[in-house]
Amino acid sequence: MNLPDMKQAKSRNKESVEFIYTNPITTNKFSGKKYFIKTYGCQMNVHDSEEISGLLENLGFEEVTTELEADIIILNTCAIRENAHDKVFGFLGRCKHLKGEKPDLKIILCGCMAQEKSVVDEILAKHKYIDLVFGTHNIHELPSLLMNLSNGLNIEVKSNEGNVFEIGESFKRDSKYSAWVNIMYGCDKFCTYCIVPYTRGKERSRKSKDILREVNCLKEKGYKEVTLLGQNVNAYGTDLDDDLNFAGLLESVAKTGMMRIRFVTSHPWNFTDEMIDVIAKYDNIMPYIHLPLQSGSDRILKLMGRRYTKEEYLTLYKKIKERVKNAAITTDIIVGFPNETDEDFLDTLSVVEECKYDGAYTFIYSPREGTPASLMEDSTPKEVKEERLQKLNEIVNKYSNMNNQKYLNKTVKVLLVGTSEKDDNKLYGYTETMKLVNVICDKSLVGEIVDVLITDAKSFSLDGIVE
Ligand code: SAH
Ligand code: SF4
Ligand code: F3S
Repeated sequence: MNLPDMKQAKSRNKESVEFIYTNPITTNKFSGKKYFIKTYGCQMNVHDSEEISGLLENLGFEEVTTELEADIIILNTCAIRENAHDKVFGFLGRCKHLKGEKPDLKIILCGCMAQEKSVVDEILAKHKYIDLVFGTHNIHELPSLLMNLSNGLNIEVKSNEGNVFEIGESFKRDSKYSAWVNIMYGCDKFCTYCIVPYTRGKERSRKSKDILREVNCLKEKGYKEVTLLGQNVNAYGTDLDDDLNFAGLLESVAKTGMMRIRFVTSHPWNFTDEMIDVIAKYDNIMPYIHLPLQSGSDRILKLMGRRYTKEEYLTLYKKIKERVKNAAITTDIIVGFPNETDEDFLDTLSVVEECKYDGAYTFIYSPREGTPASLMEDSTPKEVKEERLQKLNEIVNKYSNMNNQKYLNKTVKVLLVGTSEKDDNKLYGYTETMKLVNVICDKSLVGEIVDVLITDAKSFSLDGIVE
């Protein structure tokens, strides 16, 4: 076991990235065995689960939809806030009980929590019924780990940080129409509240030729949309010699002719004019940008290590709105950062009032062990933080509803991706601006981009009919 050292992570230097092309092991050793995978956290984890599922199916495993039927249960975990941690240990309790009835059941924990030393210590002390823990840098090793699993708790949390592993098209993708494509891994920003740089390691970009090959391959398979993934896509390519920057990559992806191109997440810092120009120039780059604010107070932004001021953020916001036609912008906001005052909070509200976001993910600050912010004193009572969150959500929802009302009686292009969960007679899909739309239409249209007339607009979704 070789856990990344939280204290040393920040001083890591930029060694060159090594690319390793691996052929996943294919065997029928586990033929007929069933796996259940539960995924917590962000799109990175969702896409990692697609990789894990692909690797397992190469070994002969079949996916099942409940833990009760499974021979192996995989928990792909998130460490971003305390409640993510609590949910995982809650579910592990159920797994332990199941293992009591079915002793051959294998329980596997991976993802960002596996990278936390305190979690591994907790597992060693209290959760020895777990069979395997593997880290975010060890996913490609899963087949050999399973082939060589010994009795008892196996732990493989190695730091493979300097490497990018290319496994080809070995993903079991959740959708046949819209695909995630990693463009880079890790994060070097070290926002003071955030655990991601410790759990995902330093920024490593994939070579543009590997990314473009993947996008072209998806296009040939009939995919209509790709979302380029990175914790901070603006930094794409800064760790590579002689390769494209993010604007260049985005332009090359647009030129493949993929019908819809999206990307997450772009940091407001280093969001260049060149990037805005490329987004504005290509119709197949969707006019939707997730631009995390975190706080509207300069004092708090500085304590968070976010590298921009409220004014700089607003200037960027306005520039994007001016140059990218009908752009929808969403954000992330944290309330209750250590010693956030009423005044700081009002600064955040003022930015929300000014930007009138299409939507926002809002969170109460959660201290994460090993991060600088977790050492800051904090005297703001929990109730005050909860009140602030509620107040913020009221305003966010007001604007999200207001923005959705603008779609009423308009015709928009929607990529239909599946059957609506609430109504079997409807398909659901997304507008170019990433609005969720439930559509009354023929089921055979799934996977198509269609013109939809919007007949109703609510805070979090639209209803429509095919024109
Ligand atoms: N790379 C992305 C963020 C990924 S984490 C970016 O910088 O935008 C997603 C969101 O979780 C963050 O934007 C932040 O709003 C929230 N978050 C991260 N750490 C948190 C913490 N310790 N407490 C509460 N929210 C947190
Ligand atoms: Fe976390 Fe900041 Fe990196 Fe986003 S940019 S993952 S918030 S450290
Ligand atoms: Fe969570 Fe890891 Fe993503 S901490 S938010 S799953 S990068």
